[in-house]
Amino acid sequence: MSDKVWIFDTTLRDGEQALKASLTEDDKLRLAHTISRLNVDVMEVGFPVSSPADFNAVQRIATEVKGPVICGLARAVTKDIEACGEALKPAEKSRIHTFIATSPLHLEHKLKITLDKAIEMAVKSIKLALTYTQDVEFSCEDAGRTPHDDLCKVVEAVIDAGATTINLPDTVGYVTPDEYAAMISYLMANVPNIDKARLSVHCHNDLGLAVANSIAAVQAGARQIECTVNGIGERAGNCSLEEVAMIMKMRSDHLGVNCDIQSEEIYHASRQVSQICNMPVQPNKAIVGENAFAHSSGIHQDGVLKAQNTYEIMAPETVGVPNNKLNMTSRSGRHVIQHRLTELGYQNGDYDMDTLYQSFIALADKKGTVYDYDLEAMIYFNKISDNN
Ligand code: KIV
Ligand code: ZN
Repeated sequence: MSDKVWIFDTTLRDGEQALKASLTEDDKLRLAHTISRLNVDVMEVGFPVSSPADFNAVQRIATEVKGPVICGLARAVTKDIEACGEALKPAEKSRIHTFIATSPLHLEHKLKITLDKAIEMAVKSIKLALTYTQDVEFSCEDAGRTPHDDLCKVVEAVIDAGATTINLPDTVGYVTPDEYAAMISYLMANVPNIDKARLSVHCHNDLGLAVANSIAAVQAGARQIECTVNGIGERAGNCSLEEVAMIMKMRSDHLGVNCDIQSEEIYHASRQVSQICNMPVQPNKAIVGENAFAHSSGIHQDGVLKAQNTYEIMAPETVGVPNNKLNMTSRSGRHVIQHRLTELGYQNGDYDMDTLYQSFIALADKKGTVYDYDLEAMIYFNKISDNN
């Protein structure tokens, strides 16, 4: 039996805050419906105190979107918790996510308070949040750069105060997978009431480690991953939802964990987030990039035509991509050209492969990719020259 990892989507909060233009309420609602179809466990949809527009969007999503727990963000201060609690009131299931920084750097230079004062504020906020909902999450902002013993002190106090999810963000994407795993293990071994809460990870991608760090934390015992569709978010972004979901789906045998993401909805969600947020997806992005299921090498193309799993570890349909692509280039062999022509409706007698292949290679060397219309033109012109 593998253990379930909760997927906490923050596309509409941590993802949205990094966009050049803010989303309209209608855009947010459309995305919220799409994200809920992914079957995420929790959806963080805004920071209600930050603006009236954000408050209204959170309230509307809380009213109209059913399924996942709807969550709002609040600093560990009264006015934030109250705004968040009010905005979430219409939700069937709601969560208040409150946070305060715990690293010496943030305490000293940003907040100018001691760790004890931060704990006092956190405890007070959690108690207030509990008057709105029994589902309260607490985050130690910049946990990645907080000494482990300080983290233990904070985490013990906030669990005692009633927080049921404890999130340990690598806010600046600084730690490595072994360090992240060690932090989780340390908390599990040294916080006496740790089994009363679910541990959560929230990784940023400044060093390109957000996904690896999240998986390392899960291997150490964390059971919630915070992530965004296409990995959008502050600076280099957040942990990518589609990547962690497919890692757990494809490698659950090895990891001993799974998640409830409806993977066939991934591609549609990715396209919609990219379009509405005006954030293109890099072509070589894992799972959802244009090239994720495209094969260019002739050897790979031949292998895939013989048995798809020779060069594809997952079928494109698993993530909602209709089919793989075999790019026609100078590396493509006769087998793949013949396959494509058959798909286009041609039969062997319609062309002479030796002649066609020569024209194909000459054109591929000149322009790189040969398209269907090029193949059709080649057959047409080769026929005309045969008849003359
Ligand atoms: O990166 C971070 O620390 C955050 C918190 C507010 C959870 O986004
Ligand atoms: Zn973040």
